[in-house]
Amino acid sequence: MPLNEALLDYTNLYVRFVADREFDRDNPVWSAYLAGLRDNIDPGDWTYHFYRHRPHRVQPASVIATFGCFSYALGEPGQIRLHFHNANRHWHGPLSDERVSSRLSELTSLVQHVRAQQGDVRQIAGVSWLYNLTAYRRLFPESYISAATVATNRFRNMPLWGQFLNRHGGVRKDAAMLFARRVCDQTHVDDLARCFPLQPLAVPAPVEAFYEFYA
Ligand SMILES: CC(C)(COP(=O)(O)OP(=O)(O)OC[C@H]1O[C@@H](n2cnc3c(N)ncnc32)[C@H](O)[C@@H]1OP(=O)(O)O)[C@@H](O)C(=O)NCCC(=O)NCCS
Repeated sequence: MPLNEALLDYTNLYVRFVADREFDRDNPVWSAYLAGLRDNIDPGDWTYHFYRHRPHRVQPASVIATFGCFSYALGEPGQIRLHFHNANRHWHGPLSDERVSSRLSELTSLVQHVRAQQGDVRQIAGVSWLYNLTAYRRLFPESYISAATVATNRFRNMPLWGQFLNRHGGVRKDAAMLFARRVCDQTHVDDLARCFPLQPLAVPAPVEAFYEFYA
């Protein structure tokens, strides 16, 4: 597979640099990144340099409302999609025991907002590696978490790659090394997904489960 294709289809770089989900190989920002890749000796250094000089949009443009670390966007008809990002400026980690009450209160506000503003919504859904963590799962209704299934083909998305970052934006070295080691052992592209230490999980639940849980 040509490197350009692998970068477009199997990494989160396009979304980070271009900030849309068109995956247009002729996009001028993407073309500038690829041109620099050809001219620079170290592809990692160039990628980081390019990233540092792009405006950083933390949330997707489709987000309707944000409550601390949580936000939501409209999904399929009758559905909203939950997003998480680390907006926590506290000494303790955003998913630590000390911050559970803050996260629950953000989710309560979000669900109240959905109830007041999105009368047509029937389902809340999410996709993330985070649903593997007890520290994250405890923030949600049991019926939401228990419906989790592995989401396939998420190579372009943060719900897969975010597992390699800690809350300071640094790389979780053990997870990254394990991943790199497993990739080296694969001989077929279909086996790439299993190299990730955590699989992204898709979770849907009726909105009533949320109304009840955060009441
Ligand atoms: C989500 C995020 C803030 C977690 O960072 P963190 O520094 O581990 O934060 P916390 O300390 O609050 O994590 C809570 C717990 O989860 C555990 N954990 C976090 N990432 C983990 C991983 N990849 N594998 C296993 N455990 C993990 C932590 O070890 C911690 O457990 P502990 O309290 O027993 O030590 C960070 O990974 C991140 O910003 N990722 C990028 C954004 C992202 O993925 N967003 C979701 C997109 S859907």
